[in-house]
Amino acid sequence: MSLLLLPLPGSEAVSAALAAELDAEVGTLAVRRFPDGESYVRLDTPVVGRSVVLVCTLRDPDRLAIPLLFAAATARELGAARIGLVAPYLAYMRQDARFRPGEAIASRQFGRLVSQGIDWLATVDPHLHRHHDLAEVYQVPAAAVRAAPAVADWIAREVPQPVLIGPDGESAQWVEDVAARIPAPHVVLAKVRHGDRDVQVSPPTVAELRGRTPVLLDDIISTARTMIATVGHLRAAGVDAPVCVGVHAVFAGDAHAALVTAGAARVVTSDTIPHPTNAIPTAALLAPAIRTLA
Ligand code: R5P
Repeated sequence: MSLLLLPLPGSEAVSAALAAELDAEVGTLAVRRFPDGESYVRLDTPVVGRSVVLVCTLRDPDRLAIPLLFAAATARELGAARIGLVAPYLAYMRQDARFRPGEAIASRQFGRLVSQGIDWLATVDPHLHRHHDLAEVYQVPAAAVRAAPAVADWIAREVPQPVLIGPDGESAQWVEDVAARIPAPHVVLAKVRHGDRDVQVSPPTVAELRGRTPVLLDDIISTARTMIATVGHLRAAGVDAPVCVGVHAVFAGDAHAALVTAGAARVVTSDTIPHPTNAIPTAALLAPAIRTLA
């Protein structure tokens, strides 16, 4: 029997793309809020004996986590043979240490919570920094699929003479991978974060960029302050306006507009989170991992 994909709110488009890749059925999962803010979940498609895949990209994770946990538990109670989670964007990966006394290490706690309800997990470019493997965070088999092949294809197709710029040390893993695939030169800058919206990025050496189109590349664009600080250096140096590429289009508040205003020539993201900037599809990259795990 084919896989049964059940999209949580916001994951309908990626579920349709995955269904086409996997020749899978897309079922119906109803989610709504009671007036008091509690979550209501109903599985409308029978799951007994099925290999069920909950598809839930975790932008706005606190709103989605309870419906996701309820959906997984309900699928189990109703006799699903196997339950997987495809979270193209996996939230809560950045609070990966106790930076100040008393802080929750949210990555591990969220991982433990979600792992209770599922048999496996697949995601795209999770923010693995101080954790080096999803196995340190999730207690079920998990695949971290790289968006790099699709990102490299897009840049090679759309950007003449690119030079890739990673705005901080954490981005080196993505920038080096994508640059090697194009192939294109790359530089990685240094960042100091003083607060949620307060970052300092080291200026690049202009000679490395002359005659090329700068492409900023990062895994997550959240407030966009990391990219805005880097765009500022490039504009001040008088090099071409940069193309900004993010894997995960989190875009908190006015982040997208602010990045455009700062001087980005184009802003492009993968489709792990639905957003008007999506131009890089990931379903074909996720499908083999899902086939293996489901
Ligand atoms: C963290 O270091 C990530 O790789 C990104 O650089 C970060 O999430 C970007 O955040 P923001 O857009 O809020 O500057």
